[in-house]
Amino acid sequence: MGRNIIENRCKSKSLAKAFIERKAKSWKFAALTAYDYPMGKLLDGLGLDFLLVGDSLGMVVLGYPDTTMVTLDDMVHHTRAVARGVSETPLIADLPAHSTETKSMGVSSARKLVEAGAKGVKPEGGRELLPVIKGILREGIPVLGHIGMLPQRVKEEGGYKVKGKNPEQAEELIADAQALDEAGVFGLVLELVSPPVAEAISRKTRVPTIGIGSGSGCDGQILVTHDLLGMFPWFKPRFVRPKVDLAAQIQSAVTEFVKECRNVGE
Ligand code: KIV
Repeated sequence: MGRNIIENRCKSKSLAKAFIERKAKSWKFAALTAYDYPMGKLLDGLGLDFLLVGDSLGMVVLGYPDTTMVTLDDMVHHTRAVARGVSETPLIADLPAHSTETKSMGVSSARKLVEAGAKGVKPEGGRELLPVIKGILREGIPVLGHIGMLPQRVKEEGGYKVKGKNPEQAEELIADAQALDEAGVFGLVLELVSPPVAEAISRKTRVPTIGIGSGSGCDGQILVTHDLLGMFPWFKPRFVRPKVDLAAQIQSAVTEFVKECRNVGE
């Protein structure tokens, strides 16, 4: 067995162990996204439990209508950039749409993201993805689960709708969460899960739940940094309370600069 694989296995176990221990002490987790070097460097060392190179970069960086067109090459490119600025915070990268269609594809995609500087990967899906998730974990690569609303399937799902509002959906979500927990993921992103169901999942899993639009009963929260900082004014999720309005500040700074340029020599 190669040295790298053994080292990875240790890392994979230690990230899960650390997260389970923190949850047992009622730690509240905080995570944000980063897509480039300056944002990675600015956010590193601020106490975030992990940084995510999210495929939300499709919308907030690349200008696509959703995440479905983001490629593995896009993810590798942005993961490399963020990794250059991050030394303390665990860096996790999204496995994009179509990169986990078979077990071997999922494993080789995860390896490419780790080679680009990620410490772990996040595939979207529940029990149907277990063979892929187990394959990646067997490589020693830490996995962050992602269940609930799955943006990579937004077309099939007919929009960004809250999951778990009826008993059948709630049962499915709880079963997915428990299966991923048992498989050995180090955490579970719950996206747009009905808050009582998110709370129930959080009670039933060993690993922390990291919610986005799923209420305060999760073990922690993750947001798209552009939403938190008011950098993407064209879409404002209802569950985000931005801390600053950077879009307005950028536009007023540039307007001032244009004015200064026009006034030169007057
Ligand atoms: O792509 C993304 O940014 C995500 C969220 C959970 C933040 O998956």
